[in-house]
Amino acid sequence: MSEVNFNSRAFTYAKNSLVQKSASEVLLNLLSIQPGEDVLDLCCGPGHITKKIAQITGGNVMGIDISQGMIEQAISSGQEFTNLTYSVMDAEDFELPVNFDVIVCNSAFQWFQKPEQAITRCFNALKQEGRIGIQAPATRMYCPNFVAAIEKIRNHPGIREIFKSFKNPWFFLESEEEYEQLFRSCGFDIIHSEIRKESNLFSPEEAYKIYQSGAENGYLNQAFYTETLDEDYISSFRKVVKETFEEQTDDSGMIDLKFKRIYLIAKKQ
Ligand SMILES: C[S@@+](CC[C@H](N)C(=O)[O-])C[C@H]1O[C@@H](n2cnc3c(N)ncnc32)[C@H](O)[C@@H]1O
Repeated sequence: MSEVNFNSRAFTYAKNSLVQKSASEVLLNLLSIQPGEDVLDLCCGPGHITKKIAQITGGNVMGIDISQGMIEQAISSGQEFTNLTYSVMDAEDFELPVNFDVIVCNSAFQWFQKPEQAITRCFNALKQEGRIGIQAPATRMYCPNFVAAIEKIRNHPGIREIFKSFKNPWFFLESEEEYEQLFRSCGFDIIHSEIRKESNLFSPEEAYKIYQSGAENGYLNQAFYTETLDEDYISSFRKVVKETFEEQTDDSGMIDLKFKRIYLIAKKQ
């Protein structure tokens, strides 16, 4: 099971997950969900994409997430949909009846500790010819803007000692071929895979909120440190990240926030 804890972030995540939302639109286009298809939204978070899927298909839609807080948020904001159910489950250790035409996993694959296990669980829950689509940040340089901030942390006199005990929790592969191979090894045929370079202008404040909606759940999570995190460390860390984003602004005061993302669609034959 992943040690990620998004519980305390459930409310702010729904508001600040701008890049995850726009990437989900690309993913849903690639998956081309058809009316009546039954869909599992794996790691559904607060359910905003799950609801969209429920509107597209009209079939049965289920959202699962390991975070109780996320599922509570999803249930409270999606009560108008009769074809939608949510459940707290670990994507790396779930068993559901073979029920789904499509499995969607947006902006969560990078959190898996045992990705093969999660993919195999998905394979087992899909009908024959069923499709899975994932979108996730990819490669160690998944976001050069964030990586630059972390380089400063690594060299910062007041922070670097505790940061030395940080163990990177994310699962990143460096090429499309490596992602393809992973899915093939679990029985899937690849329909589409590409690592896209995306680039959008944001204010430093927006960039910071985007950082907080994802990466900070790793960088400031006690579960990924052997040393104890205290308030001084957390506030100094946040200060350095904010300052780095300020330094990255262009003449108009905006940051060109760059991400590399894997979009992969695979089919169960
Ligand atoms: C960045 S959010 C993405 C939420 C949603 N899919 C979206 O696109 O907005 C990542 C989500 O993955 C969930 N998650 C991480 N590891 C998980 C696991 N092993 N099983 C289920 N959910 C997991 C987190 O709780 C969090 O809600």
